[in-house]
Amino acid sequence: MTLEIKTGHGSYPVYIERGALRRAAELADAEGRVFIVTDSGIPAVWTDCLRQQFPDADVFVIPQGEGSKNLEVYKELVSDMLDCGISRRDTVIALGGGVAGDLAGFAAATYMRGLRFVNIPTTVLSQVDSSIGGKTGVDLEDTKNIIGAFWQPSAVIIDPDVLSTLPERQTNAGLAEAVKAGIIRDPDLFAIFESDSFRDRPEEIIYRALKVKKDIVEADERESGERKLLNFGHTFGHAYESYYGLGRYLHGECVAMGMMTVIDDPQLKERLRAVLEKLGLPTHCDADPDRIMELMRSDKKADHGVIDLVMADEPGKGYIRRTSLEELRGRL
Ligand SMILES: NC(=O)c1ccc[n+]([C@@H]2O[C@H](COP(=O)([O-])OP(=O)(O)OC[C@H]3O[C@@H](n4cnc5c(N)ncnc54)[C@H](O)[C@@H]3O)[C@@H](O)[C@H]2O)c1
Ligand SMILES: [Zn+2]
Repeated sequence: MTLEIKTGHGSYPVYIERGALRRAAELADAEGRVFIVTDSGIPAVWTDCLRQQFPDADVFVIPQGEGSKNLEVYKELVSDMLDCGISRRDTVIALGGGVAGDLAGFAAATYMRGLRFVNIPTTVLSQVDSSIGGKTGVDLEDTKNIIGAFWQPSAVIIDPDVLSTLPERQTNAGLAEAVKAGIIRDPDLFAIFESDSFRDRPEEIIYRALKVKKDIVEADERESGERKLLNFGHTFGHAYESYYGLGRYLHGECVAMGMMTVIDDPQLKERLRAVLEKLGLPTHCDADPDRIMELMRSDKKADHGVIDLVMADEPGKGYIRRTSLEELRGRL
């Protein structure tokens, strides 16, 4: 399956197919020399597969985890690109999850004012969400994604087979983003999660989730209105993430709890609860409401005590409602 994502300047293909990693050299359509960025947690079976196809490529391995998404690692990365003699005509390929993709994408966006970028996402989260849309960047201490750039890849290669080595907890947390996509825009995708066969349908889930994101980002490349829909579950989810800090919960787990916090319709809430439980995701958050409200007030999206809250009363129909922070307090 292929999706073509339109951008302000053209378009790029997203290949979704089992075994696609083995065809990366053909699909990537890389130009010039190739600089591969990957992380230390990616199993050798996948990194070797890519390296064999680009035997002359330089490879930069970052330590796995969010801790690598910062300016220090960015500096090491671009310094290494310079030492290797990478020029504007060359290609950066990311092989990894959202961390490798965001960091390598940011390096590609900024090194010599930008070069070709190919993303090969290897986690569910990056395959169903972060690999398209053009957001790249790094964190500044505890503030996530505060330094970044919009930079579109020239191709995205998604091989569901690479997920076979991903720990189950990571898989399930990533699927929370696909559940989100179903609730805001695609009732059939939500229905897949309600069926018993969802574990056998990775390609369909990835395709449908990305299609939702594609339709939204094409309409709103730089996040003014429509793109806010993608924040469903994230207003509270981000606050829960900050509250617990790194360690206790994964991003998708916080989004799962955040979706439960904003749904009012009792029927939809029960349907979502059943799906999340099936995925082993948390449905209730025990965070201190006062502390959560403090975090929400300092959120960059809160504007003078009001926030655009994304809500839904039935699958496929997300909408935005301007809501006061006081009203949000009542949900905790
Ligand atoms: N750019 C965007 O639009 C966007 C959207 C959502 C999230 N993000 C970012 O994505 C990041 C999170 O991404 P993530 O959840 O993919 O985490 P991640 O990149 O840290 O990967 C999670 C872990 O899985 C390991 N891993 C990756 N692929 C594997 C595989 N196939 N088999 C075994 N292990 C594997 C990694 O080594 C890592 O330890 C965050 O920094 C977040 O801000 C970006
Ligand atoms: Zn998310």
